Amino acid sequence: MPALVVIGTQWGDEGKGKIVDLLSEQADGVARYQGGHNAGHTVVLGQETFVLHLIPSGILQPGKLCVIGNGVVVDPAALIEEAANLEKRGIPVRGRLLVSSNAHLIMPYHKAIDKESERLKGARRIGTTGRGIGPTYVDKMARIGIRVGDLLEPDLFREKLTANLIEMNYLLEQTYKVERFDLEKVYRDYMGYAREIRDYIADTAWILNQWIDEGKRVLFEGAQGTHLDVDHGTYPYVTSSSATAGGACTGTGVGPTRITAVVGVVKAYTTRVGSGPFPTELKDDTGVQLQERGHEFGATTGRARRCGWFDAVLVRYAVRVNGLHGVAVTKLDVLDACKEINLCVGYRYRGKTFQDMPSSLTVQEGCEPIYETMEAWRCSTTGIQRYEQLPIRARDYLSRLEELIGCQIFLISTGTRREEAILLNDPYSLRGQIR
Ligand code: IMP
Repeated sequence: MPALVVIGTQWGDEGKGKIVDLLSEQADGVARYQGGHNAGHTVVLGQETFVLHLIPSGILQPGKLCVIGNGVVVDPAALIEEAANLEKRGIPVRGRLLVSSNAHLIMPYHKAIDKESERLKGARRIGTTGRGIGPTYVDKMARIGIRVGDLLEPDLFREKLTANLIEMNYLLEQTYKVERFDLEKVYRDYMGYAREIRDYIADTAWILNQWIDEGKRVLFEGAQGTHLDVDHGTYPYVTSSSATAGGACTGTGVGPTRITAVVGVVKAYTTRVGSGPFPTELKDDTGVQLQERGHEFGATTGRARRCGWFDAVLVRYAVRVNGLHGVAVTKLDVLDACKEINLCVGYRYRGKTFQDMPSSLTVQEGCEPIYETMEAWRCSTTGIQRYEQLPIRARDYLSRLEELIGCQIFLISTGTRREEAILLNDPYSLRGQIR
């Protein structure tokens, strides 16, 4: 039965929230597999806007089951708050959400270390969301992490916390010169969280495989984007998890042979929050126009997103490392006001031309984009639901984009609402059609 992975192909904020919301209509369950509450998925339902950070966007579709997989890092306070806010707004969470007992807990010292280590980096700071994501994954890999399931074993939790605080408090006081954390307070706070979230905790790898065995449709919701992936992104200006499709397997315990299709979400232009290379960045009025028309302000931190032209090199790379079967193009309508549109087809660095993403950060930071200029359509595409109704120049733009990235477009989003979209192909049956 279909298991579909949805990932971002750029630097996150491609509009995955809306696409996952649309696609989860046909799914039985939706699972997050990496990242934490650094993500910000915005979904507009009627007159209401929901911003989800940790809970899968599928929660907004009535009756769907949602999973926070083992690859996610969980701040229990953020989880409790997000669930309570949803319930207050009439979206039931209890009984529909499961959290892996193997997911790692974000602890208060992780947030402090995230903040302080960024401060010390100065000009080379990553521009993290400050949510403690990186330090939590560091502890996971160092095998000193505390997991969600440990909340159910207070003695073990206390033992791990005691050992960790010796090291973390030393680091905080000696290196960063900030206050230490009190064992009793942290223990009490987390035991309080344990009481509130204990009913969510489960062996989600077992459950997800069981769902697939039973013929249920499962959607794996990626957070961030391909170029923020810790292995395949613009390292070190990345997040600390596997945001690419492979992460869906390690981050949930569902094997690659069970994944039916992998689709990407592509913004019709490019944005990035935080530091790092961005070859097509526009620091002029056009960049400001994209930022304003696209409401390009971070859903998690409120930071203004850097904006630029569509970069085919970036997305072609995402098609390859994720093995994409198709892409959904979002925010086409933001380009409605452009006088002309540039598409980046390659990079130039010191007289050398690159068709593929260079792995060197020096090249990524110093390269010049090679543009192809297309005529703009200069009329509204907002809300269009049929491909034939798109202006011819918009169709030309999409065809060229498709050609350059080497992957089929299965959906075009033309606005923030659910119904503002053109569905060209069923993503659950894309496998084998294109590549
Ligand atoms: P961290 O994930 O908080 O460690 O931040 C690392 C980098 O990833 C920073 O550049 C963040 O701005 C970026 N980042 C993290 N989550 C998102 C997201 O959901 N969308 C866009 N950028 C993100």
